[in-house]
Amino acid sequence: MTSNPQAATTQAPLTTIREIGKHEGQTVTIRGWLYNLRESGKLLFPIFRDGSGVIQGVVAKNQVAPELFDSLKKLTQESSIVVTGKVRADKRAPGGFELDVVSAEIVQPVPETDPYPISLKEHGVDFLMENRHLWIRTPRQAAILRIRSEIEKAMHDFFDQRDFIRTDPPILTPAACEGTTTLFEVGYFDDKAFLTQSGQLYIEATAMALGKVYSFGPTFRAEKSKTRRHLTEFWMVEPEVAYATLDDIMGLAEEFISFIVQRVLERRRPELETLGRDIAKLEAIKAPFPRITYDEAVEMLQKAHAEGKIENRFEWGGDFGSPDETYISSQFDRPVMVHRYPAAVKAFYMEPDPNRSDVALCVDVLAPEGYGEVIGGSQRIGSYELLRKRIADHDLPEEAFKWYLDLRKYGGVPHAGFGMGIERAVAWICGLEHVRETIPFARTLHRIYP
Ligand code: 4AD
Ligand code: MG
Repeated sequence: MTSNPQAATTQAPLTTIREIGKHEGQTVTIRGWLYNLRESGKLLFPIFRDGSGVIQGVVAKNQVAPELFDSLKKLTQESSIVVTGKVRADKRAPGGFELDVVSAEIVQPVPETDPYPISLKEHGVDFLMENRHLWIRTPRQAAILRIRSEIEKAMHDFFDQRDFIRTDPPILTPAACEGTTTLFEVGYFDDKAFLTQSGQLYIEATAMALGKVYSFGPTFRAEKSKTRRHLTEFWMVEPEVAYATLDDIMGLAEEFISFIVQRVLERRRPELETLGRDIAKLEAIKAPFPRITYDEAVEMLQKAHAEGKIENRFEWGGDFGSPDETYISSQFDRPVMVHRYPAAVKAFYMEPDPNRSDVALCVDVLAPEGYGEVIGGSQRIGSYELLRKRIADHDLPEEAFKWYLDLRKYGGVPHAGFGMGIERAVAWICGLEHVRETIPFARTLHRIYP
C-alpha cells in the first residue's frame, strides 16, 4: 500500500460515484473516504463516499490479496482512500450499483485512538452544529448542499435566459435598507458602517442603468430572533426591473420559483430521495400561483378563528406571524402570493396603492407546507417628494439617501423587484425543519463557530 493518491489511477479510469453508472462492467477508480463498514463472515461491505455520492463496495476474502482484506477490515470511519473495483449493477443498491473491490490505497487512516467524532448513531443538533465542519460529510447534509448549489445555478440560468445583468451591490453600507433596528454595525476607519440587509437600493440604481438586473450576495439581519427561519447572515437573490409594476414582478416571482423547483426535480432527484422528500408535493409547484390580497388573507384568518381552527383572532393592520403564514399557506398546494399589505408595517420605499394609500404595492410569497415567506417584493416609490417624506417619517438620515433620491429626479420610472432568501427556498424544497442545515456554516443568534 502506498499513500500516493495518484498511484491507482494509472491502472483504471478515474470516475466519480455520480458517474459510475456509465461504467457498468468496467474496472474504475474512485477517490474518497470510508463512510461505513459492515462485516459478514468472509465478506466486507465498505461504503465509500466521494463527494458526489455513496456506493457500497464488496470485498470477498478469497478474491483479494490478504493484506488488502486485512487493512480494509480494520479501516476506520472517514479514512481517506482511493479504491479500484468493478462496477456491478444491483437493483437493491441505493444508487443502483455496487463496486467489487480489487485494490485500494489508503491515503490517510483515521487513528483508532482518536476516532472520527460523528458516528452513525444519533447525535444531538448542538453537537452536530459544533462539528459542522465534519457533519457536512454525511450523505444527508451533502445532499442538501448539492441541492443548494443546483438552486443557485438554476437562479443564474433563469435570469440569464431573460437577459438580466448581474450587478453586485456593496456589503458595507452607510445606512439602513429594511429597518434601523436590525443592523450590524462595523467600524469603518474613523467612522462607522453597516453590513447590508439587502442589495435592493443599489440595484435600483443599476436597474436605471441596465434595465433588468439582479444581485446575489450575503445579507445580514441583527434582530435577536431564534426562529427556525432566521439566520443573521444569509444569501439573497434580488431581481430589479425598470418600468415594471407589482403585477409584473408577481409574474416573475411565480415563474422563477417554478423554474427552480422543476430544475431540482430534473437534476437532483437522488438527493431529494436521500432526504426522503415528498416529491409529489414539489411536482405540483407550477405557475400560475394563487394571488390573494392582504385583506382576503385577514378574512381567511378571522374565519378560521371563528370556526375554532386557530387560536388567536388576527386583526387587520399587523404583519403576519409564522402561525398566520402557516395557516394561510396550508390552504393551497402551491406557493400563495399575498399582496397589498398595510403600508405601515412594510418598508419605507414601497409605492402606495394609488387607489388606496393605506396599503402598499407589495407582495410576500408564502411557501406551502408551513414554510412561510420565501419572497418579499414591491413596486418602489416613484415620487421624489413622497420618498423624501418617508425617509423623514422613518427617521432616516436624508444625506445618506441623497443618491437614492436622485433616482427619482433624473428620469425616474416605475420599477419593482423582489428578494428571495436562498436558505428559506432550500429549506422548503428539501423539506427541512430548520434553515441552519441549508448553508454550510450557519450564523445564528447563539452560534458563530465553526
Ligand atoms: O422581505 P425582506 O426583508 O425583503 C427585502 O430585503 C427586500 N429589500 C427585497 C427586495 O425587494 N429586493 O427579505 C427578502 C427575503 C425574505 O422573503 C426571506 O426569504 C429572506 O429574504 N430573509 C431571510 N432569510 C433567512 N434569515 C433571515 N433573517 C431572513 N430575512 C429575510
Ligand atoms: Mg419580508
